[in-house]
Amino acid sequence: MNKARIAVLVSGGGTNLQALIDAEKSGIINSGEITLVISNKEDAYALRRAEKAGIKTAVVRKKDFDGASAFEDRLIETLENNCTDLIILAGFMCILSEKFTSHFEKRIINVHPSLIPSFCGEGFYGLKVHEAALAKGVKVTGATVHFVNEIPDGGEIIAQKAVEILDGDTPEILQKRVMEQAEWIILPLAAEKVSKEITEKR
Ligand code: GAR
Repeated sequence: MNKARIAVLVSGGGTNLQALIDAEKSGIINSGEITLVISNKEDAYALRRAEKAGIKTAVVRKKDFDGASAFEDRLIETLENNCTDLIILAGFMCILSEKFTSHFEKRIINVHPSLIPSFCGEGFYGLKVHEAALAKGVKVTGATVHFVNEIPDGGEIIAQKAVEILDGDTPEILQKRVMEQAEWIILPLAAEKVSKEITEKR
């Protein structure tokens, strides 16, 4: 079987990337292979994780381009040169325009650290999501994996998992629990599901 070629886009620590790498090693991801990791930050620890796993890396920084459109053009070129079938946004902190998302319709997935439609959309990323959940006083939060379209966090939902909020939680404690109990589990499962669908359509 020809596996789906996966590119993972990152900006930071890359624990979700690590979960994907581990899932490929253990066979949870079997229909796809991670062939490229792209970061928009040259110092992202996620790049080190990719190098350790022997995965090709690229850095594409917005500030090196004259505007968001040229930045996205370079991203598209890099992804196409890699013959990418599936793009996974794993802590990628850039909002992508309709030009980009429609170019890869139903071939981009994202992990978001809340139960969409709560605490999502523009301005909700990373720790801010958990700060907002704690400020609202919700008792349950979680993570969502969804297809990416032109609406930030607005694409079709693929998987969700709920996580309890406990007394004394700080944003950092809650972030860690949501990663461990939800993100690192549902992202690899969704990656396998979508990869399988892509390979079956060929
Ligand atoms: C993760 O919690 C991910 O869900 C979140 O950023 C973190 C990245 O951590 N993404 C968003 O908030 C996107 N809106 P990681 O680099 O360790 O995977």
